[in-house]
Amino acid sequence: MNAARPDFPFPVVVWRDGAVALIDQRRLPGELVTLVCPDVPALAEAIRTLAVRGAPAIGVAAAWGLALSWDLSRRAGRDAAAALAALERDRALLAATRPTAVNLFWALDRQAALAGRLVAAGAGVPEVGAALAAAAADLRERDVATGRALGAAGAALLPDPATVLTHCNAGGLATGGYGTALGIVYAAVDAGKRVRVYADETRPLLQGARLTAWELQARGVPVTLICEGAAGSLLRRGEVDAVITGADRIARNGDVANKIGTYPLAVLARTHGVPFYVAAPLSTFDPGAADGGAIVVEERDPREITEYQGVAVAPAGVGAWNPAFDVTPGDLVTAIVTERGVHRPPYGASLAGIGPEAPDSLP
Ligand code: MRU
Repeated sequence: MNAARPDFPFPVVVWRDGAVALIDQRRLPGELVTLVCPDVPALAEAIRTLAVRGAPAIGVAAAWGLALSWDLSRRAGRDAAAALAALERDRALLAATRPTAVNLFWALDRQAALAGRLVAAGAGVPEVGAALAAAAADLRERDVATGRALGAAGAALLPDPATVLTHCNAGGLATGGYGTALGIVYAAVDAGKRVRVYADETRPLLQGARLTAWELQARGVPVTLICEGAAGSLLRRGEVDAVITGADRIARNGDVANKIGTYPLAVLARTHGVPFYVAAPLSTFDPGAADGGAIVVEERDPREITEYQGVAVAPAGVGAWNPAFDVTPGDLVTAIVTERGVHRPPYGASLAGIGPEAPDSLP
């Protein structure tokens, strides 16, 4: 069974009746259901188990998480100092969920800085709560606008017709609702270009098969699913005009952390003379990382490889290594597309000044 088509931009993370409501991405493509997180531990678990995933979407969820933390303190009758202490505990809980997507830490830092600043200025608990909720809603709206802007910049890179190969899911489901890599596809389609997409299934959690194929179908974009092991053969056939992926964290020299399997795709693209583009918002840049060596790569439970939906697919006791991300050297990346436009090597120069707003600059 395929889930119904939701509104677009997708309502990936929203505030509903005093709780954070998410599209439960673990249940797609079979069911389109909402997961309601009434407290921060529930939201942290949703992030850890990939009910909500994708760097920008994790950032939006985390921003709502701290708004939820504050609202629970308000409902419990805490004063501002106690609410701030609870917020710091919840910030630590959320920060411990997934280490690689920098948008998580960026969103948490922004919200915590906002609350701290307002409390220091003498704001009351309800006022701070309203500001945190407004900032979370704003972050989501800006992310959608960002997807549209970088989508338009990237769409200009594609010929007409165009065939794109993508990895994992960097679409509406992974963001505030529009998309980064798939944002480029959507913007190109909206501009009248004929685009079709090959989607890597993306082992082991199948974000390509379950999510990218589903959302492209939902938007009426032709999509063909492949095992990622088929990418080399596909690229050698000469039918792919561009490989486009998202990113979880980008270092100052253009090294890109993204879903495991991105790096071999970049090597293959280089071998076959196909451009390899990375699409990401400024919030995915880490000014603190000089190069990819500074990026922490999440390693997940080996059972994600040795089992499928709870059923063993490998002999009992076999070892398994399960990094969730890899780092693609910037020199394999043809261009990085952001809401500020298209950045090309050498990235040390072209990315100078590119990065997220400082946490205390808003609003
Ligand atoms: O483990 P996931 O599903 O959170 O990994 C997601 C990715 O690697 C995406 O490509 C990345 O976050 C960019 S999403 C616009």
